[in-house]
Amino acid sequence: MSDESRANFGSKIGAILAAAGSAVGLGNIWRFPYQTGNDGGAAFILVYIGCILFFGIPVMIAEFTIGRHSRSNTARAYQILAPGTQWKWVGRWGVLTGFLILSYYAVVAGWTLEYFLQAAGNSFIGKTPEQFTESFNTFTASPWRSVLWLVLFMFATHFIIVKGVQQGIERSAKILMPVLFILLIIMAFCSVLLPGSGPGLEFLLMPDFNKVNSGVLLSAMGQTFYSLSLGMGCLCTYASYFQSDTNLTKTAINVATIDSMVAILAGLIIFPAAFSVGIQPDAGPSLVFITLPNVLTRAFAGLPWLTYILSTAFYLLLALAALTSTISMHEVVTVYLHEEFKMSRRKAAWLVTSICGFIGIICALSMGIGKEYTLFGMTLFDIFDFVTAKLMLPIGGFFISIFTGWYLDKKILHDELNSGGHLPVFLYKAIVFILRVVAPIGIGFVFINELGVL
Ligand code: PFF
Repeated sequence: MSDESRANFGSKIGAILAAAGSAVGLGNIWRFPYQTGNDGGAAFILVYIGCILFFGIPVMIAEFTIGRHSRSNTARAYQILAPGTQWKWVGRWGVLTGFLILSYYAVVAGWTLEYFLQAAGNSFIGKTPEQFTESFNTFTASPWRSVLWLVLFMFATHFIIVKGVQQGIERSAKILMPVLFILLIIMAFCSVLLPGSGPGLEFLLMPDFNKVNSGVLLSAMGQTFYSLSLGMGCLCTYASYFQSDTNLTKTAINVATIDSMVAILAGLIIFPAAFSVGIQPDAGPSLVFITLPNVLTRAFAGLPWLTYILSTAFYLLLALAALTSTISMHEVVTVYLHEEFKMSRRKAAWLVTSICGFIGIICALSMGIGKEYTLFGMTLFDIFDFVTAKLMLPIGGFFISIFTGWYLDKKILHDELNSGGHLPVFLYKAIVFILRVVAPIGIGFVFINELGVL
């Protein structure tokens, strides 16, 4: 497929917002707060920011370079840049990872729709903490409700994907991202103003360096990967739609900044409110689905209308953030099938929607009626999460840095990084050094940590 026949993002801001839309998702609003809660608050956040600077941004630049230079889907990109070699498997690996992540990510994304409707139907008011836990467990165990939401979520993703790159992805990102940002700022403001929110703010802003150990360092790196959508060719695919004078380094910095700000805003929403009503910050993955409605109803007990507005807005924006991420994963696979197997975009999108939807249904059921079918103590849903997020993404990222740092023609890297603005030589050298040495070693550590070897 020639450059001319491929779509492009119509504007640079559209490109940034679409990439940021991929990065910002459940990883920021659901995973980041519970990781922060488990790993010591402010100290974890500082380490995380360090990881974004030293590993996240360089690896993102590598994906952008590969995508924009090849102007192709992530699998073909490696064939173009390294013809006749086995590097093509890095791209194919990315497509497979995207396909598998989408299947189970859409299940949790579907939960956000259920919680949005519960909030909009005013069903949070008057519930006790035990009832919130019970209703979450009943919901995830119910065979039909979570399947229904999953299917709806897949259709919403599908609808935007078939509208194409500029109309679908770019336009939705341009609307969704700013709305999301404004809603988060309003909620963070309300949470910080709650009486007794001080210790929550302290937890987030005053680092206790005694809490930094190798475990914290490694889990901050894992979070960096997941949150920035790195390691599966997602941002590589989006970069293939960038204009040729889009500045890759600036775009990577912008995307990483937006992504980190959303994560920190999510922390600012959850922790001050949680501390103000005496809820522990290390409640784990249930923080968003059990603790948050609990916190909102108790914190604003005298103001039910405020609970109503805040909880409805929160779950709506969580669903929107998840949607811009599912769109990006769907796009990786759709454009691969479209370009490699000469299918129409529509047909390719249907294939992805139906197969991912089917796998997603099995994952959703594995948490309810299929709960007793486990492998190594994990349900199918847990296995998908473990294998994709903890094994496949780090492996992908490891090879992407090695490919860009060691194999890729340095002239290509240099030209790509200098298009749309001159990159200072020391920065260029720093990026190359990180891609060659620092990132592969760092990612190797994350990988080993995730396997539980360290
Ligand atoms: N970055 C997304 C999030 O934080 O929710 C998740 C994700 C999207 C991971 C796309 C990987 C990916 F390729």
